[in-house]
This record gives sequence, C-alpha cells and structure tokens, in this order.
Amino acid sequence: MSDNIVKNYNQLRQNVIEQDRRFTSHNGKLCFEGVDVEALAKKYGTPFYVFSEPEIVRNIKEIEQAFSTHANTKTFFASKTCSVMGVLKAIKDAGICAEANSLYEVRKCLEIGFSGSQIVFNGVVKKPEDLEYAIDNELYLINVDSLYELDHIDEISRRLKKTANVCVRVEPNVPSATHAELVTAFHAKSGLDLEQAEETCRRILQMPYVKLRGLHMHVGDQVPESEPFAKATKVLVDESRRLEEVLGIKFDLINVGGGIPVPYKYDEENGDPLKDNMYAGITAQDFADAVIREVHKWRTDVEICIEPGRKVTGSAAVLLTDVSCEKRKTNYDLEGNVECHVEWKFVDAGYSVLSDSQHFDWFFYVYNASRITEPHDQYIKLAGPLCDGGDYFHMGVKGEEFLLPHDTQIGDVVVFLDAGAYTIESQTVYNNRPRTAVVMIDNQGKDRLIRREDTYEDMVKYDIF
Ligand SMILES: Cc1ncc(COP(=O)(O)O)c(C=O)c1O
Repeated sequence: MSDNIVKNYNQLRQNVIEQDRRFTSHNGKLCFEGVDVEALAKKYGTPFYVFSEPEIVRNIKEIEQAFSTHANTKTFFASKTCSVMGVLKAIKDAGICAEANSLYEVRKCLEIGFSGSQIVFNGVVKKPEDLEYAIDNELYLINVDSLYELDHIDEISRRLKKTANVCVRVEPNVPSATHAELVTAFHAKSGLDLEQAEETCRRILQMPYVKLRGLHMHVGDQVPESEPFAKATKVLVDESRRLEEVLGIKFDLINVGGGIPVPYKYDEENGDPLKDNMYAGITAQDFADAVIREVHKWRTDVEICIEPGRKVTGSAAVLLTDVSCEKRKTNYDLEGNVECHVEWKFVDAGYSVLSDSQHFDWFFYVYNASRITEPHDQYIKLAGPLCDGGDYFHMGVKGEEFLLPHDTQIGDVVVFLDAGAYTIESQTVYNNRPRTAVVMIDNQGKDRLIRREDTYEDMVKYDIF
C-alpha cells in the first residue's frame, strides 16, 4: 500500500515536470514558467509567493472559451480570492472585470484601474458608507443581500441623485457536495429567501433611483459536480421568467456567481471528487454548459454574469519555503515504550502564511524544488515555525506524512503547488512573523516583486503606547 503511494506520488512528480504547462526542470531544479525556483528563492528570500501571469491568462482564456457559445457573458474576478494589486492588474490586463466584497476591495479595484462599470459589489453586510461609496462610483452592480440594505440603497441613491444598479441575491436552496463551510446556497446566511424575491423586486420598482437588473446567486466554492449549478440556475431562471411575467419587466442579466473548482489533487483515477473535494470533479466547460443550457431554455439574449475566483488564480501561484530545521523525535506510549520515530522537517512558513484556505485542512502538493528529479521516497512530517503544536501540515500524502527525497538538506527549497487562491488573503502576523512578499513572473517571463514582506516597522506601525 505505502509503496503504491510512493510510486503514485513520484509518477505525479514526473508528470508535473514533463507535462504540466506551468513547470519544467533544469539541472535537477524545478522551473516555474521557465524560471528556476531555487534561484528565485535566493533572490527574494523565503517564504514568499510566486504568481504566473501566463497562468492567470490561460485560466481566464479557459473560462472565456467555456462560455464562447454565449457571447453575452461578463466575467467578474472574485477579488477576495487574491487582492494583491499586481495580481488585480494582471487580471485587468487580461480583459475581465472584478467582483468585490468590501469597501476596500472596491477601492483597490478602482485604484488598479477598473472603472466602476467593471465592478460588482457583494456582501452580507454592506454599511451605509460602503453603499454610498459604491453608488457614488457608479458600480456595475450591487447585489442586494437584505431588505435592510435595500432601504439604505434607496435613501442614498435619492440623496445623491445617482442610479444604483442592483441584482437581488436569492438562495436557490440547492446543496452541493463541497466542504460544509463552502456551501452558500442552502441553509446559508447570504441572500434572500426565494419567496421574498417578488416583494423585493416590487419595492425596487418603486424606488426612483434604483435600477433592477436581475437575480443573483452563488452556489458554493470548489463545487465538484455540475448538477448543483444546473439545478440552481434553473431555480433562478424559473423565478426570473415568472417575475418578468407578473411584474411586466425584462431583466438585463442573470448572475450565477462563482464556484468553478480547481484540482488540488491530480490523480483523478484514485479519488472520488464527491468524497474528497481536493479533486476538481468538473471543468470550467462543465460549469458553463450547465449554466448556459438552463439559461437558454429561458432566453438567449440575456447577459450572463459569472464571478469566478479560485479558477482564475488557484493554479497560478506557488509558495516557496526553505527547509529551516530538521529533527528526529520519538513517540512514546504512557508506559515509556517506544511507539515510533518521527522525522520532522521544518519549513519557514506555517499556517500564518499558508492557512489551509479558509481555515480548514487543505491539500497541497509539496516538492523539493532543489531536488525535483530525485525520488521523493522518505516519509516526513512537515512543520511550520510557529509556536503552536498544531502548526504542521495536516493533510499529507499518507495521513499526516509527506514525501521528500532522502537526502533533503537544510536550505533546500520546498514548493507548495496551487497556492494562489484564498491564501495570501488569509495571512496573519501571528507570532509576529511578517506577511510574505509576492513575486510575479510576467508574460515576458521576467520576475518582479509585487508586494514586499512586512517589515518590523510595518508591524508596529498601528500600536499606540
Ligand atoms: C458571491 C460570491 N461570488 C463569487 C465567489 C468566488 O467563488 P470561487 O472562488 O469558488 O469561484 C464567492 C466566494 O465565496 C462568492 O461568495
């Protein structure tokens, strides 16, 4: 069994350097978009994230291609996924729009060059000042999440004498087989009950400066099958059609949110995406087909808005760390008998840097980039530098264990793949360790710093004593 795990893991490592569009190897070192990862680590100092602009572009093209049978599609990158300004800029340059979930996300998007008409504003709590900023900047859409919020939109838009374009976010009541905390369309806190949609729309139609554009939903993140997208789109379509009839209106658009999954595990034949959502299960094309099929049963002329996040940046970044310490420890039972020995390798990034996505366990392929062509055949436990006993990577290739080459040395560069979504955004300065730098490899294959590491001065700046 364990031999099979080693064999499988090394086959995947081989595939990564021979077949993966992002990676190659040169003189035994891993290259990301042609750039030697170990050399990058020396240049910038670990730990730090490296983004690939070409991969961002390829991911966006994949989504656009998937929706090519519905030309009237608008794509809004969910900036909560990664709002590093250099990343937002690359996404803007690739030609899509942005979705924001807070006032400062909206501000960042505007500052990087998105116009208000290229930004969608979501969120369960939008305060009056957030809404005023959104309306004043003439955002493309504000997705209304509560009646409380709607009253503020009405008041502010009248006062500013400015049009507020809105969608009504509804809950389609469709569960999905993703992580329980990533389900957002079933027993969720977001959106309004479907039964409230008509009354909400009627109210909006009475508001002189509020323009009703359509309905909105978000099924969930990392959704491993297309059926929930089809089902939820049908719910939205049926309700849109009904509302058009009873209210005598015509919607401009339907906003189906995000949720296209990303493969964190690649060996699909060994896993079941419905049981292990580290497998993607479906592609952007499957997502698009499910959505378009249902929308076209209603209308072909309506605009489809999508809000992908993870799919745009997930595969576009790696985290570089180095092996900073190692030790062999012994586990004893309570009578003092030796149970087993544990080989610990410590890297210089723990959960303050790579926090299992949104605070639950997440799987990442981990390779020794300095020895990428050597067999990864030694089981180790992989820890971070934080004081907590729990600061080690829990989701290994065999239980909590990872595989690295036998002669892994202190100073070797260890890379975590597919680290570009919901990671940098979750960094903390816990233990007073700085948030990391971010480097971008651009479309010309040149690397540059797009965010520097926090300095000591950054970290004490806000303290008053
Ligand atoms: C409203 C909304 N849209 C889009 C997204 C992006 O989802 P994903 O990154 O899974 O594509 C989210 C994520 O939570 C969301 O809440």
